[in-house]
Amino acid sequence: MVEQVIEKIRTQRTLDPETPEEWSELRALAHRMVDGVFDHLRGRRVQAVWQRPTDAVRAAITGEAVPRAGEGAEAAYEAFLSDVLPYAIGNTHPRFWGWVMGGGDAVGMMAEMLAAGMNPNVGGFDDAATLVEGQVIRWMAELMGMPKGTSGLLMSGGTMANLIGLNIGRFAKAGFDVRGEGMRGGKELRVYCSTEAHSWLKKSMELMGMGRASLHVIGVDSLYRIKMDELRAAVEADRAAGLKPLCVVASAGTVNTGATDDLSAIADLCEAEGMWFHVDGAFGALASWSETLRPIVRGMERADSLAFDLHKWGYMPYDIGCVLVRDAEAHKDAFATGASYLTAMERGPVAGGLYFSDRNVELSRGFRALKAWISLKAHGVDALTALIEQNVQQARYLAQLVERSKVLELAADVPLNIVCFRYRNASDEENEEILMRLQESGLAVPSGTMIGGRFAIRVANTNHRSRMEDFELLVEAVETIGAEVVKERSTL
Ligand SMILES: Cc1ncc(COP(=O)(O)O)c(C=O)c1O
Repeated sequence: MVEQVIEKIRTQRTLDPETPEEWSELRALAHRMVDGVFDHLRGRRVQAVWQRPTDAVRAAITGEAVPRAGEGAEAAYEAFLSDVLPYAIGNTHPRFWGWVMGGGDAVGMMAEMLAAGMNPNVGGFDDAATLVEGQVIRWMAELMGMPKGTSGLLMSGGTMANLIGLNIGRFAKAGFDVRGEGMRGGKELRVYCSTEAHSWLKKSMELMGMGRASLHVIGVDSLYRIKMDELRAAVEADRAAGLKPLCVVASAGTVNTGATDDLSAIADLCEAEGMWFHVDGAFGALASWSETLRPIVRGMERADSLAFDLHKWGYMPYDIGCVLVRDAEAHKDAFATGASYLTAMERGPVAGGLYFSDRNVELSRGFRALKAWISLKAHGVDALTALIEQNVQQARYLAQLVERSKVLELAADVPLNIVCFRYRNASDEENEEILMRLQESGLAVPSGTMIGGRFAIRVANTNHRSRMEDFELLVEAVETIGAEVVKERSTL
């Protein structure tokens, strides 16, 4: 009997190495992996920013059958080195400025490994991971100028952080029991934003069952800020029509041009009208860390809820967004369920309940907080703030280069870290062609957008690896490619 039990234990498996030799082998491979990724990061400047995955790579990745029998960690790592790592989108490169993507950093990368090794489920148990996330939230609230006692969560990104903030506002301000009754319970609700609001908002309105029709979109001035007189008039007209003005979603740094709405005026309006004041500060909110840039986002600290990303202008590896909520009770009231299998006990790991799961749609959550905690402690907020200021100076420098160029023109003002420009004597299609050729050349990756109905090349600078010379290279390349494209047109 005893032998049988011993035999059974012997044949049971685990994914961990078993013998000392197996542990040594895996440890050696892990060291090689760290060396490999450090070599990759160090050599990034002289590599192409982006290259399209080759047909062979596509076939190798997408044609592989379900791997029933494992090939071993070593072979899997070799496949990563040959087929995956060289074909990244490119945001670790000093000349990547597309969309709004941060480049991450090596310390954050190592913190991700530590978080995965520890592997806690940060639903909010009585453990150190929960304490760390709570502390990161307190630090964020202080840095954003929000009061002590501000509640919050780390999320996958700006989209989810914004959705959570808006939803808390809906439950808090609707005036009826939305959690119980859904949208049938009371007056029709209206949310206000400008034409420049990011697309997360439309998706969220659809997802929350309010529909896009409940979104009242207001025009912008010549600097792409919400028109306050139109906003006030819209709120008044909707109220007069029997609707309930619920929330203004303001922008601190719009995705297209980096414009910031008049946040103090919106805060005043929301206060006077009993509306929820939500700020989407996906990247712009981090301007408040800098004394010189803070006036741009003044009023943001009055938000009922504020969403922003640390994987953009906080330079931390994907993914990590954050929502802060002024009224901690409203935050809890929006999500706690009291399910029997999750309820608090007097003692043990669930003493006090599941803090974060009770403030969120998600139940299980990873240890995102660790990379924020380690990154902030390792670099210090002053160093990160200096980089934010450097990015703004670089954007201003790029704007000057564009203004000085004989063939380029700015498409919009540059209030923060985004520069939109175009080749002057080229059509929208030709400017798009210039951008695609530039991206395919591997030299730089800006992205594109429409500004005032016309195509523009758009540089969003949240890159701590960029140097001033990189922007000179960019301008030279656009001038050269632009001349080629225009010449081709004239020879057609
Ligand atoms: C202003 C703004 N809001 C929201 C988002 C969405 O953030 P995420 O991509 O982290 O979901 C972005 C992304 O670029 C943004 O620029």
